[in-house]
Amino acid sequence: MSADGFHGGPPPGAAADWTIDQNWDAYTADEHAVWDVLYARQAALLPGRACDAFLRGLDALNLQRGGIPDFRQINADLERLTGWAVVAAPGLVPDDVFFEHLANRRFVSGQFIRKADQLDYLQEPDIFHDVFGHVPMLTDPVFADYMQAYGEGGRRAMGRGQLHNLARLYWYTVEFGLLDTPEGLRIYGAGIVSSRAESIFALDDPSPNRLGFELERTMRTPYRIDDFQQVYFVIPSLQALLDATLQDFAPIYARLDGAADIAIDAILPTDRVLTRGTQAYAAAGGRLGG
Ligand code: PHE
Ligand code: FE
Repeated sequence: MSADGFHGGPPPGAAADWTIDQNWDAYTADEHAVWDVLYARQAALLPGRACDAFLRGLDALNLQRGGIPDFRQINADLERLTGWAVVAAPGLVPDDVFFEHLANRRFVSGQFIRKADQLDYLQEPDIFHDVFGHVPMLTDPVFADYMQAYGEGGRRAMGRGQLHNLARLYWYTVEFGLLDTPEGLRIYGAGIVSSRAESIFALDDPSPNRLGFELERTMRTPYRIDDFQQVYFVIPSLQALLDATLQDFAPIYARLDGAADIAIDAILPTDRVLTRGTQAYAAAGGRLGG
């Protein structure tokens, strides 16, 4: 995702579009080992939990070759499959820069990897979250189009001062989305698939609400960045998500301007309820499964 607000230009050493060379040769053996630990446990956990598009994408990217992926290799596959590329940045980039990249089918990834004592949690997205979490879905043609459309929509939303509403859509789909399938709920959100604990919590825990995705409802719902989600929104298909966002959001933004937020744990009479959560985890103070 991206950092908020004003920026005076890229940091020293970065290009005008905030990208840097991945400098793959500079990763240390310890850094590659952190990737391998994270990769091994998520690859074992996700069959039967992540959606088919994600698992297919993971295969297509050949990440099992081991170590932190080299973007030159990933991009050869991505380019062939959907015309996307992953580019490195020193950290979070400003919203307008982030959207510009998405609109041109470039996904911005952090270059750094977390330390060995941060395997389970860190707030700033690192290369494991960005590449393992996000890039497999970019091999799916429908999701690939959704992400590009989101980048274009982001630029429009910024111009209208509506970014906080659109950011919720990103959060509840790209980062924390669930997909309904005949075999049961599956994960497609990058924030979930890159987290061992949330890959379990999001599907199995009785605490969170799981509600049918409805575009405007989702954009009225705040989210938390520091703990497991209290509500997940479930889409019927990736195509349905793309279709719902193809409309012009201008009338939606006009309505949202006057609409109150919906409490994060609320269930409305109009919601399609898949799980009425106990909210026990949040009520006990959360703190990531402790
Ligand atoms: N259709 C949206 C608009 O008119 C753009 C958008 C597309 C936003 C896809 C999010 C996702 O602004
Ligand atoms: Fe992310």
